[in-house]
Amino acid sequence: MLAPVLTIDGPSGAGKGTVSRLVAKKLGWHYLDSGSIYRSVAIAIQNASVDLANISDIIKVTQAMVLGFECGDTLIVKLNGIDITDQLGLESTGNIASQVAVLPEVRAILLQKQKDFRQLPGLVADGRDMGTVVFPDAGNKVFLTASAEKRAERRYKQLIEKEIDANLAKIKSEIEARDRRDMERETAPLAMASDALYIDSSEMTINSVVEEVIKLIR
Ligand code: DC
Repeated sequence: MLAPVLTIDGPSGAGKGTVSRLVAKKLGWHYLDSGSIYRSVAIAIQNASVDLANISDIIKVTQAMVLGFECGDTLIVKLNGIDITDQLGLESTGNIASQVAVLPEVRAILLQKQKDFRQLPGLVADGRDMGTVVFPDAGNKVFLTASAEKRAERRYKQLIEKEIDANLAKIKSEIEARDRRDMERETAPLAMASDALYIDSSEMTINSVVEEVIKLIR
């Protein structure tokens, strides 16, 4: 039997990660953070000192990388056996990930790795193209978004809480640039599946978003 899938797509900073993890925990389902796979490619090409313009080497590095996910209270990601969890969340990693994610060859290599997460009793898959490309037959789909202002404010607060120096205007313009790149690329752009539930979290708490998503499943 094919495991049921709930997809949660949307732009960066809309709260997909937090919501997906909480919903997966409530349902007892597995969780796929597909962004972390693209972020791992970004780290792999940085480690190999591959230039972003060198597409053939980016493809080679993507083909060769071995990823390991250890799901406990927090997600630990290993690239070729080395823990890269700390590097994954960096703003710079996300920006490079968004640039390599434009390449159709990279997306094709990563497709099966993502499909492999579909295991019983079920999967919550978070990303940009989960409901449109990777799991088009998912039984439940959500498109979770928020205004660029709100997303920038949330990101700014997170960084300040971690005592990391941050500039709100710069964060907002990086978010807008990433949105544009993710939405305008030709292969598997960020888009809402026609059968997805649209949720704008700008004025919502995380808990109320989780409740809406759980209602959809039940
Ligand atoms: O969700 P995130 O911020 O971790 O994703 C980082 C980048 O990876 C994002 O800007 C675009 C790319 N990505 C993608 O193209 N497709 C996905 N399903 C997930 C992420």
